[in-house]
Amino acid sequence: MGDDTTPRSALGRFRLDGKRAIVTGASRGIGRAIALAMAEAGADLALVSRRREGLLEVAREVEALGRRAIVLPCHVGRTDEVRSTVIEAARELGGLDVLVNNAGTNPLMTPLAELGERAWDKIFDVNLKGPFVACQEAARSFRANGVAGSIVNVASVGGLDVAPGLGAYCVSKAGLVSLTQVLARELGSIGVRANAIAPGLVATRMAEALLTNPAIRDPAVARAALRRHAEPEEIAGAAVFLASDASSYMTGQTLVLDGGTFLLG
Ligand SMILES: NC(=O)c1ccc[n+]([C@@H]2O[C@H](COP(=O)([O-])OP(=O)(O)OC[C@H]3O[C@@H](n4cnc5c(N)ncnc54)[C@H](OP(=O)(O)O)[C@@H]3O)[C@@H](O)[C@H]2O)c1
Repeated sequence: MGDDTTPRSALGRFRLDGKRAIVTGASRGIGRAIALAMAEAGADLALVSRRREGLLEVAREVEALGRRAIVLPCHVGRTDEVRSTVIEAARELGGLDVLVNNAGTNPLMTPLAELGERAWDKIFDVNLKGPFVACQEAARSFRANGVAGSIVNVASVGGLDVAPGLGAYCVSKAGLVSLTQVLARELGSIGVRANAIAPGLVATRMAEALLTNPAIRDPAVARAALRRHAEPEEIAGAAVFLASDASSYMTGQTLVLDGGTFLLG
């Protein structure tokens, strides 16, 4: 683990050498990009998602970068699985320094007034309850081992604004931003930080239905100052920054990576 008292160069503070990180939703998309960027920065990884096959592929990519990767299949909407996964990750990696809650779901587009209770529960179980439980277990590990850990929650611009048809998703991500702020306040005294990332439109499987529908994609892209959507790799650097000592005085914040959409109102 990095010694926080050792003076390092400005660039060195972005490194994650010797850090042990859990990334949920690591089998593809933004989570895969975060896991690979963290490995490149020097971290060992616990890769989490439901399906083992996708994780194994990413594990091979992490190992090709010279870092260790363990694969832990887990449904993040199931409390017991999440608890045991975080505990096992810390045991296998020899401790824990970073938790990235990235796994998320957005199963359907429906006006909130017509959304069924089961769909609401699924969205909240995966997008908010899972991260909450993972944060609890990670905080326990950080506290027990005197680790100044970092929590990074992948929220969404949907959690800061309103997207019609994506109501429950937006509310769940707003909850994740709030969860991040509460954790930052409660854990700051033991040196643990919690921050969030709010991406705009990113080319992943989750966003496929939006990106292949010109009626949704074109206005979204037009609203962005950069006039385009993002690639997953463009989100990963923010996660490395928030996990690293380069952001050591930053907690409770949400970094918006939306190509300048909010800028235009
Ligand atoms: N793409 C965008 O435009 C965008 C914008 C803003 C925010 N985000 C957020 O970014 C995060 C990553 O999304 P993405 O766009 O990279 O989506 P993605 O490519 O569909 O990847 C989702 C990842 O989450 C895992 N996952 C899904 N449900 C899970 C569950 N119940 N338990 C455990 N793992 C689960 C998936 O693996 P398995 O299928 O193997 O479980 C996969 O690894 C999400 O939180 C999303 O809300 C995305």
